[in-house]
Amino acid sequence: MLNIVILAAGQGKRMQSSRPKVLHTIAGRAMLSHVLDGARALEADAIVVVVGHGAEQVQQAFTQERDLQFVRQEPQLGTGHAVLQTVAQLKEDGRDDVTIVLYGDVPLVQTATLRALLAARQNGLAVLTEVLPDPTGYGRIVRDANGQVCAIVEHKDATPAQRAINEVNTGIIAAPTAHLKTWLAQLTNNNAQGEYYLTDIIDLAVRAGLTVNVAQPSAAYETLGVNSRAQQAQLERLWQLELARRQLDAGVTLADPARIDVRGRLVCEQDVFIDIGCVFEGDVKLAQGVQVGAHCVLRNVSIGAGTRIEPFSHLEQAVVGAEAKIGPYARLRPGAALADRTHVGNFVEIKNARLGIESKANHLAYIGDADIGERVNIGAGTITCNYDGVNKHRTVIEDDAFIGSDTQLVAPVRVGRGATLGAGTTLTRDAPADKLTVSRAKQVTIEGWKRPVKKV
Ligand code: UD1
Ligand code: MG
Repeated sequence: MLNIVILAAGQGKRMQSSRPKVLHTIAGRAMLSHVLDGARALEADAIVVVVGHGAEQVQQAFTQERDLQFVRQEPQLGTGHAVLQTVAQLKEDGRDDVTIVLYGDVPLVQTATLRALLAARQNGLAVLTEVLPDPTGYGRIVRDANGQVCAIVEHKDATPAQRAINEVNTGIIAAPTAHLKTWLAQLTNNNAQGEYYLTDIIDLAVRAGLTVNVAQPSAAYETLGVNSRAQQAQLERLWQLELARRQLDAGVTLADPARIDVRGRLVCEQDVFIDIGCVFEGDVKLAQGVQVGAHCVLRNVSIGAGTRIEPFSHLEQAVVGAEAKIGPYARLRPGAALADRTHVGNFVEIKNARLGIESKANHLAYIGDADIGERVNIGAGTITCNYDGVNKHRTVIEDDAFIGSDTQLVAPVRVGRGATLGAGTTLTRDAPADKLTVSRAKQVTIEGWKRPVKKV
């Protein structure tokens, strides 16, 4: 059976935050969520999270995630002491039982790396190590005359000769579960920090005759920990670059891979173009050949093939068909459903409204709670007055209608098929099909009228 233990009891003082460290985000998601992705991909039989500082907050944030077990560690007496708290939760069935220890503040370990660690284990123990030019602060991997790993020595406990070792412990370890339980019970805190070190199990494993093997991460960012806002920001950039690289590999053109932020799942078909400064949140789908202009924000949207989103547009929970043109400066709010070849121009806001094939609202309009048919033309300054101060009402505009500029549609109201509304109309009753309806006062010219003159 496979157990995964995630250590997340530490305080994270250097974050200068009231929020527990593992709830701070990378790419819009809590660091702990990222760690869980890796754990879940391995189909672990148990996932145990060790919490301490801010335990309630962490558990609260993950109450929906039923596959997690939380164990409290109070006080925090070291990494070995932390894993010791999980012993009762660690599952065994006698067949290749293994426990992997991960850190909640090392969020980006990839599944492939964890698989490599498991493969390196060969029924013994495996440590994920790295060779660093500056190993200061890390536990050093000590090898015997045959080059076999025989111990991990913490920086503070290391001799000058050991400090010269460049191979370090990343903290991620895979160990046989039954042995691990025995070793944890034997740990002492006889060291420079007075802590129960998890790393002392290496020495115990060697004494028990087990081999200790090592594996390395595929990329350096995978084992970077977050202890400060600066490290968080650094890791965010590294991860965004990695996500951008994956988009490039999938056939997307990015104007600048360093100027795109994906905080969710961005799925692109081929030949999508994304200009600089765009932010993608939640689930975003861009079909073949979609173009996204500079500085757009897209949250939970799906965009059809060949559609162009011009700069500075903001789209949220909207669906757009193929070959449409959105923006610049358009705002699609939740429930906006735009069919193929629709045009939505600058300073147009659309909420909870359907726009049929080839319908256009090119300038300055508010379309809320509306059903708009096909080939409808909505003039500049058109407003659906959907709210009476208490309730929302719908506006229906049938196919081929023409809505003149500066029209107010006081909902509930219906505009019939092929109807024309004169500019400036305030529509309070339904407009019949194929006719001109206009509510504006008749234009008059006063003959012989004189401008007033200034009195002296
Ligand atoms: C640890 C390793 C060190 C390794 C380094 C990599 C030990 C003894 N040392 O050192 O070999 O090079 O990580 O970054 O394991 N935690 C708890 N409870 C505790 C103590 C820590 O949950 O009582 C958690 C922390 O929240 C953190 C993780 O364990 O997520 C590591 O703790 P940290 O104090 O950073 O360990 P290091 O001293 O850096
Ligand atoms: Mg550390």
